[in-house]
Amino acid sequence: MSEITNEVKKQIEKRRTFAIISHPDAGKTTLTEKFLLYGGAINQAGSVKGKATAKHAVSDWMEIEKQRGISVTSSVLQFCYDGYCINILDTPGHQDFSEDTYRTLMAADSAVMVIDASKGVEAQTRKLFKVCTMRHIPIFTFINKMDREAMDTFDLLDDIENELGIATCPVNWPVGSGKEFRGVYDRNTKMVEIFSDTRKGTTQGEVRKAALDDPAIAEVMTEEQRARLEEEIELQDGAGAEFDQELVSRGELSPVFFGSALTNFGVETFLEHFLQMTTSPLPRMSDRGIIDPMEEESFSAFVFKIQANMNKAHRDRIAFMRICSGEFKAGMDVYHMQGGKKVRLSQPQQMMASERHLVEQAYGGDIIGVFDPGIFSIGDTLTTSAERFCYEGIPTFAPEHFARVRQVDTMKRKQFMKGINQIAQEGAIQIFQEFNTGMEEIIVGVVGVLQFDVLKFRLENEYNVEIRMDSLPYEYIRWIENTDIDVEKLTGTSDMKKVKDLKGRPLLLFVNEWSIRMTQERNEGLRLAEFAK
Ligand code: G4P
Repeated sequence: MSEITNEVKKQIEKRRTFAIISHPDAGKTTLTEKFLLYGGAINQAGSVKGKATAKHAVSDWMEIEKQRGISVTSSVLQFCYDGYCINILDTPGHQDFSEDTYRTLMAADSAVMVIDASKGVEAQTRKLFKVCTMRHIPIFTFINKMDREAMDTFDLLDDIENELGIATCPVNWPVGSGKEFRGVYDRNTKMVEIFSDTRKGTTQGEVRKAALDDPAIAEVMTEEQRARLEEEIELQDGAGAEFDQELVSRGELSPVFFGSALTNFGVETFLEHFLQMTTSPLPRMSDRGIIDPMEEESFSAFVFKIQANMNKAHRDRIAFMRICSGEFKAGMDVYHMQGGKKVRLSQPQQMMASERHLVEQAYGGDIIGVFDPGIFSIGDTLTTSAERFCYEGIPTFAPEHFARVRQVDTMKRKQFMKGINQIAQEGAIQIFQEFNTGMEEIIVGVVGVLQFDVLKFRLENEYNVEIRMDSLPYEYIRWIENTDIDVEKLTGTSDMKKVKDLKGRPLLLFVNEWSIRMTQERNEGLRLAEFAK
């Protein structure tokens, strides 16, 4: 193995790749937009995506998103700030997309969780957070909308600790909220950063800092507010968890910041602290052991997302990959491990604010999208290393909803199969067939029911195939681990169904957990798994 050059190392070291998660409306888009504003990537707030201006430029390429006003897909943005090169992975906010979110998180080294200060932890935050903890990545909390009436600060912190089961460490502390919002107190420097009204973020905020005993403080805070702040800080210092970088890196302690994305307040402080506390691209596990971007000279990447038909006129398909090590150069040849052959990565693209542009070079930590002629699948590894290796796969979530799907017009079988297979390759749905009746019946499994609508819509619009869907009562799926078992002879409950996946592996569908237990009791030695290995 040849040595990694200092230049490549320097480039990778300055990368920060993170995902941003929140319950819809907590302010994720606004915060992202303000990051870009501070990074100089855009010069006018509102140009990323404003619901009011209907400029759904970044991610709303798909018709269904526009129709439903939700973000189904996630997008990637890159910008520079203070010597760092930052990649933000936006995650879909809709509750049905935890699987897509999980894959996006696979490509991130840390996560930023945005919480609405008046609401605390909400349903979707809870769900997304659970997915984050499965990855053990550092999680940073930004409590937003302090310019509105907020919950009590201690209650907010308790809420995060109790609801999400993670210890918190506030890096700063809010002084009032709503009309009384005066700024944040930095617990480390012991200075108050004074809030200045930016008229809903249309003007740059004035940055003013003052110590608590500074006469300037009296101009913005009443004596009562000051006394209350001192009391709260004393309480927090005595009872709260101390900042511990080790615990943060392990995802066990979440640093908390307060602010108001809309009025630009607390955003830059957050960004500065966050960039120092979060990590540069992390090593990743492969079947050749750990691949450390600081040591591995070769280029390597894995596919975490596939988006079809981003440009309807061209019917293209883009495979998004996270570069894990080395340097990428446009047009380079790499070995596609799962395909077993060399491929040229053509039309590599990156997102910069609302525009897609071609990239000439990229480094470990970056995300690129490459044109996919239909050869890539989620989890695939690409590398230029002579000692070939595969990154650990991305687990598939067990689907919880099933439907029998068939094309209305029998003449369109070919398009139907092509469409359904391509959509399955993207990871949006999983397809199964009856165990012993050959090709005809297609059973689709999804994690969230909205995917059924997406499937129907896409088959009609992109493949010109109308389908009929009959929902099935199954909710549980189990892969059969025993390779020597005679599936035909398995005796289960009467409502159990035997199917096989695309690779021909046998599976069982169940209506309830009782049925799973009964089947196991009736078939001694049967080993059932929730995930395909
Ligand atoms: P999301 O991506 O998490 O779904 O949230 P988004 O940023 O779209 O914000 C949701 C709403 O909350 C928006 O208002 C936005 O302006 C508002 N908002 C975001 N941050 C703050 C904040 O710090 N303070 C206050 N007061 N409001 C905030 P909207 O009326 O739904 O949309 P728009 O018409 O303003 O675009």
